Amino acid sequence: MGPVRQPPRRHSRLRLGAARLAELVTSTLGGRAFYRATYLSPPRLREETARVRDLAPELEGFSVVQLTDFHAGSFLGPGDLAQVVELSNALEPDVVALTGDFVTHGAHEIARIAADLGRLRAREGVFAVFGNHDYRGRQEARIEAALPAVRFLRNAGVRLARGSAVVALTGLEDLEEGRVVDLDAARGALEPGDVEIVLCHNPLGARAIARPGCAAVLAGHTHGGQVDLPLLRRLGPKHPGARVVLGSTLLVVAGGLGAIGLPLRVGAPAEIVRLRLARQA
Ligand SMILES: [Fe+2]
Ligand SMILES: [Fe+2]
Repeated sequence: MGPVRQPPRRHSRLRLGAARLAELVTSTLGGRAFYRATYLSPPRLREETARVRDLAPELEGFSVVQLTDFHAGSFLGPGDLAQVVELSNALEPDVVALTGDFVTHGAHEIARIAADLGRLRAREGVFAVFGNHDYRGRQEARIEAALPAVRFLRNAGVRLARGSAVVALTGLEDLEEGRVVDLDAARGALEPGDVEIVLCHNPLGARAIARPGCAAVLAGHTHGGQVDLPLLRRLGPKHPGARVVLGSTLLVVAGGLGAIGLPLRVGAPAEIVRLRLARQA
């Protein structure tokens, strides 16, 4: 996939306005406390394994904790991610991957969760991509500035060596709202033999990304449907499923941690995902 230049697809004002109104009403009724107690104390831990042919022994068990779709705002404020961060740190991951939608309505909302996210620890570091909501008002740099310990991969990659073996993390701008999405540039530093893991907020990008050598694509965006009932399902983004095998690439679609509109999840628990690499038998 070469560079795709696109006019950003804006959210409809009507839809975001309706969400904001619903958030205002339900948070006044105690929505935030309810959300934290019901879904984040603690969140579900989902385990995934990407099996890689001829995986170097040094990379056996290499682990990535993925956290996504925080939507800081009415339902997520200071301290609400305490148990999420505690659980993530207890897993002692090699990498923490944050796959976007830090905020819902504006970059200023990042201030509500920045301190909690600042406590995340990982051997090789904390890496991130933006989600569609993070580009509101084109102030995504403000989110980046609020998280100085997090390295954002904006059509960019990083190679993490473990002995003579390498895990390459590739990060893409958001498919809907990013101004330029350039997979070739993001993969510019990749070398043959690298085991690649791609961070891409929107799972619909995965088919163009999957290829031999790419062990996994980590996406979010769908909230698992958030309120996953037949009549409401069509209101949310297209949902390819939580776990999709695309040839030798595993697409993991994490259900995320936050919510939009209502402090409610049905059939779509808040979750953190731990992905581990394992040698294909
Ligand atoms: Fe989201
Ligand atoms: Fe999203």
